[in-house]
Amino acid sequence: MKKINLLGATGSIGTQTLDIIESNPELFTLTAMSAGRNMKKVSEIIAQFKPQLVSVMEKADADRLQAEFPNVKIVHGDEGLIEAAVGIEADVLLNSVIGSVGLKPTLAAIAAGMTIAIANKETLVAAGDLVVQAAKRHQVPLVPVDSEHSALFQALNGENEKRITQLIITASGGSFRDLTRDQLQHVTVEQALAHPNWSMGNKLTIDSATMMNKGLEVIEAHHLFAMPYDQIECLLHKESIIHSMVEFEDTSVMAQLGSPDMRVPIQYALTYPDRIPMANAKRLRLDEIGKLHFEKMDFERFRALSFAYDAGREGGTLPTAMNAANEVAVQLFMEGRIPFMKIEDIIEQMMDQHQTISHPDLEEILETDRVTRKKVYGIVK
Ligand SMILES: NC(=O)c1ccc[n+]([C@@H]2O[C@H](COP(=O)([O-])OP(=O)(O)OC[C@H]3O[C@@H](n4cnc5c(N)ncnc54)[C@H](OP(=O)(O)O)[C@@H]3O)[C@@H](O)[C@H]2O)c1
Repeated sequence: MKKINLLGATGSIGTQTLDIIESNPELFTLTAMSAGRNMKKVSEIIAQFKPQLVSVMEKADADRLQAEFPNVKIVHGDEGLIEAAVGIEADVLLNSVIGSVGLKPTLAAIAAGMTIAIANKETLVAAGDLVVQAAKRHQVPLVPVDSEHSALFQALNGENEKRITQLIITASGGSFRDLTRDQLQHVTVEQALAHPNWSMGNKLTIDSATMMNKGLEVIEAHHLFAMPYDQIECLLHKESIIHSMVEFEDTSVMAQLGSPDMRVPIQYALTYPDRIPMANAKRLRLDEIGKLHFEKMDFERFRALSFAYDAGREGGTLPTAMNAANEVAVQLFMEGRIPFMKIEDIIEQMMDQHQTISHPDLEEILETDRVTRKKVYGIVK
């Protein structure tokens, strides 16, 4: 029985993780969880899965929950999020919170020796070096949940990593993949949230529309697989059937395929190196699909992707600043306060202004994150 502490339990990945726990009660149990503000869902999860500890964002929500569930320890805020990660002994931290707020709990869980199943890519972008070094120091596995990174991880199973020539990350292209930059000027939040292949949380769906999601994934892959940026390529693949590929020195390419269903990589992260059946999953029928399409990535069209390569190559605190600028810009777009194209402008401006610290410690990372967020709110005011 694997004990799981789950951050972001009310979100898209969190909900699908709970599906897997529910389908396999003899294998998994939920020991602690965190959520943000969705109290209706939190109450339902507590009633069904009976975790011992729950963290929510606001104190008032925590007080109400404590009255409703007197036998569960209820905590709140950023400290509560860390307690949800490590306050109850568990085997795995599945981190599916959104944003760099996931950094401190991840580091705490690594220090506690827990296996980290990581969906929360912003943590690896904001502080990839610190997280990977800590995982090495504590000999803790970092198992990817993101479908692309799970695909790379699976393609690398049993391979000699020295023989890799390239990681090829596929991209569906997001909601606006067929629009020109001119056509993007007046797109709405509703249009941006209509992803053609995947059903995901709002922030990630917007990140897919700007292609920043792929940029974050490039940086994530750099850290997870210790691969130089020149050896990480992105390929437009609209069907989202090939989830990513690895090319080796002998020119062989290993790909992982499947119907788009995030429960598959989530479950694999929890059962690795084993596999178990997947309840209610759609099997891949290539004869029904017929054709798969691939296009070279256009860096002029998807400027956010080139920002991410630039930030990743420079390293230090620049990816932290880029990520923070993106998180706030996406939030402002969703609130209707800036147009879609302004997201890129804000990221570019914040990156231009940023004075990179090459080998930052945790405090310098947190300060970069805080200052960049403040600056973005300043510009928009
Ligand atoms: N969704 C996918 O298919 C997918 C695929 C690959 C990778 N990922 C990655 O997985 C992570 C989660 O994505 P998602 O789509 O599942 O996001 P989501 O649906 O927006 O869920 C985010 C979760 O985090 C909670 N949360 C938000 N802000 C918080 C804060 N400041 N403090 C504490 N908790 C907070 C939310 O709580 P409330 O809802 O209760 O407010 C919710 O439980 C992201 O890093 C994303 O890039 C997602």
